[in-house]
Amino acid sequence: MDIAVIGTGYVGLVAGTCFADMGNKVFCVDIDKKKIDILNSGQCPIYEPGLEPLIEKNVKAKRLFFTTDIKKAINETKIIFIAVGTPPKPNGDADLSFVENVARAVAETATEPKIVVEKSTVPVETGEKIAAVLKQYTPYNIVFEVVSNPEFLREGSAVKDFMMPDRIVVGTSSEHARKIMGELYAPLKAKILFTDVKSAEIIKHASNSFLATKISFINAIANICDNAGADVKLVAEGMGFDARIGKSFLSPGIGYGGFCFPKDVEAFIRIAEKKGYDFRLLKEVQEINQGQRKIFVKKVEQQLWNLNNKKIGVLGLAFKPNTDDMRFAPSIDIIKMLQGEGAKISAFDPVAMERAKADIKEIEFCGNAYAVAKDADALLVLTEWPEFLELDFKKVKASMKAPFLFDGRNCLDSKKMASIGFKYFGMGIKTDNCVE
Ligand code: UDX
Repeated sequence: MDIAVIGTGYVGLVAGTCFADMGNKVFCVDIDKKKIDILNSGQCPIYEPGLEPLIEKNVKAKRLFFTTDIKKAINETKIIFIAVGTPPKPNGDADLSFVENVARAVAETATEPKIVVEKSTVPVETGEKIAAVLKQYTPYNIVFEVVSNPEFLREGSAVKDFMMPDRIVVGTSSEHARKIMGELYAPLKAKILFTDVKSAEIIKHASNSFLATKISFINAIANICDNAGADVKLVAEGMGFDARIGKSFLSPGIGYGGFCFPKDVEAFIRIAEKKGYDFRLLKEVQEINQGQRKIFVKKVEQQLWNLNNKKIGVLGLAFKPNTDDMRFAPSIDIIKMLQGEGAKISAFDPVAMERAKADIKEIEFCGNAYAVAKDADALLVLTEWPEFLELDFKKVKASMKAPFLFDGRNCLDSKKMASIGFKYFGMGIKTDNCVE
């Protein structure tokens, strides 16, 4: 099939590349010429495992094209995916102006019917608005079919998530569009749930909000465990055996970050409000999430007493491992709070340091974890990069001024750290359990 994907952010670029790899001819379009130039020079503008070779393979096979020419892309294809950004406005609503611009470009350009697919995360009823714009601006009275096909891929495992999804959601009222979308996704051999457009739109916000709720729930439990002297890892394990609860997304820590959960939870609260429902549960989910950063900093203060001029080493800046994404990363808030108390911060992240420079000022960026630990009064793990688990912690401890280790992700073995001589603090882990 011939496909246009408008917007080459995480979702658009991964979706476009994967569609090409499935044998389709794909035009990836972006208004950012610099990004298109980077892609055309064979490089990938984002850090995403496995994506760059896949782009290279499909460009070589002449199935994947990058262009700023949206008109050409619209004219040469039958299915047009809208994958542009829907960033939050200052009031928390999603800014849908980019989505509208694309819909208008399709309407004004197309000389024959097209299937227009919303892939970006959008509020319920956006499909109706897209349909109205298409109808309004077509000079040829073309009847467009609108589909909602939300994307559930995660950063850091985006290609795998796209190619092996738990489910594909296709919302449309058109039988023809349903058939075409079914054929497009058939090679993935995944479960396809066909719905109406509005239900598909809500599935996306409801899924992300539910996952965020699960994280805040286990964070609340971690706080109770901290106060009661219990171990949240065991509590989560015990809960997770119940098939209705499940084991995943029960890792407590310094809270969720990234571009999706914070933005989508806020947007869903606003959507609910507009539909006459006060989604207080989600407001509390946000409160708990922000609170985790403060609880973590308080733990550090409780042990170090005054932070003024203390050297604090930070391992990990990205909002999660395997990405260089710093958007809404808990590390930003935590470092700012520590700096507010006068602490001197040194930090290392395997890939996110370049991006972090825009968000975090006046810190020393180090070449590796050992340099971070040197002369530090405390070491903080803020992202659970696998390589941090492999560090020589005896060497790390020997170079520190004081042996305080705060694990904001509960990723280190507390007993092992204690046996090395660290004063180890996790989130919801009983500290006097740490010493054998
Ligand atoms: C998320 C959704 O998973 C994905 O379906 C959607 O399309 C986009 O948003 P992503 O933001 O890439 O994907 O990251 P994800 O792996 O889901 O993690 C989100 C955040 O939750 C991270 O900050 C992570 O550290 C945190 N998290 C996750 C926890 O704190 N505890 C957990 O148990 C799981």
